[in-house]
Amino acid sequence: MFENLKPVAIDPILGLMVAFKADTRSEKIDLGVGVYQDDHGRTPVMAAVKEAESRLMVLETTKSYQGMAGDPEYNQRMMELLFGEGHSILNSGRVKSIQAPGGSGALRVGAEVVRKARPESKLWIGVPTWPNHIPLLGSAGFEINQYPYYDMASRQINVQAMMDTLRTVPAGDMVLLHGCCHNPTGADLTHDQWDEIADIALERGFIPFIDTAYQGLGDGLHEDAYGMRMMAERLPEVVIASSCSKNFGLYRERTGSITFIAETPERADVVVSQAMSTARSIYSMPPAHGALLVSMVLGDPQLRSQWQAELEEVRLRVKAMRGLLCDSLQDNDAGMDFSHINRQKGMFSFLGITTPQLERLRNEFGIYIVSSTRINLAGVNSNNIEYLKQSLLTVLR
Ligand code: LMR
Repeated sequence: MFENLKPVAIDPILGLMVAFKADTRSEKIDLGVGVYQDDHGRTPVMAAVKEAESRLMVLETTKSYQGMAGDPEYNQRMMELLFGEGHSILNSGRVKSIQAPGGSGALRVGAEVVRKARPESKLWIGVPTWPNHIPLLGSAGFEINQYPYYDMASRQINVQAMMDTLRTVPAGDMVLLHGCCHNPTGADLTHDQWDEIADIALERGFIPFIDTAYQGLGDGLHEDAYGMRMMAERLPEVVIASSCSKNFGLYRERTGSITFIAETPERADVVVSQAMSTARSIYSMPPAHGALLVSMVLGDPQLRSQWQAELEEVRLRVKAMRGLLCDSLQDNDAGMDFSHINRQKGMFSFLGITTPQLERLRNEFGIYIVSSTRINLAGVNSNNIEYLKQSLLTVLR
């Protein structure tokens, strides 16, 4: 039977990670996969997480099953993190959240539930988006439509074209939005643009499906949540997939949440029962370890403030690398403008170079960049900036 299968090309982002690891050049630079690196190119475990881990070693008394929704305390704390303590939605009974295996697992459970609720719903995805959105959500059975998001030429959001397309979305369809730190462009919606999308959603009757994987890495934990907090106040239905991979550095622990806002508390209960049944039919229940750490960090005032300080350090380092790279490339001989990098947010921006230039960077200099020219700014550091600059200037010449 397996003779019928054809080999599948490795995922463009995770494949790059493998190729980078296999590269033996000492000067190599990883600007590929979206993983935080410190100024030494390391991806450390956050100290608050490490402390929670050592406490958990002592406190944990069982490894018995937790159930399809994961840890109830984690679910509550994640909703408070997403919406902010005191947000009116939290006491409305209209919002329910379950733990999911990472942001990807959350997206998939959300998609499956929406497909059950309304099989004819289409999913509208901005162009460009995280490349895995399409296989991940498409294989839930969605028909995917596109709306324009980023304009390569002006290096900013194509606001007019995006809003014009959203004004054509039929009632009951889903619109995928990035909560903050847009992946791959780093071009985030302003508050006014979020408000306008909410107006259009109300007018047209489409439902936002917000993917928020970088809360705290853009402008701050509170600031990065503007869109979903506002939509939670104004719209009858919203779906939010969130991840703790980046802001807690828990990548391999697969720690995420899928959160549903329904029109009434009764409907929210039904939706969450469907989400649990979906989980049961795919993976039964999410892994416990990462969520137990997150709930301990968020629930302990000392660990929480330590975590917030560490996250702020991460955010500011990535922001500083944006400035450093822009300054280094200013007035380059090729006359290329990289100033957009300094205006954008989170881990990513497009470099905007050509494919042959990108290939030269990898082959000749060991600098790994996703084929869309997306770079992870966290891969830049004070030790490699000069090499990166010289390599880039060479291929631009
Ligand atoms: C990325 O975009 O690089 C990350 O979200 C990792 C992944 O799974 O693609």
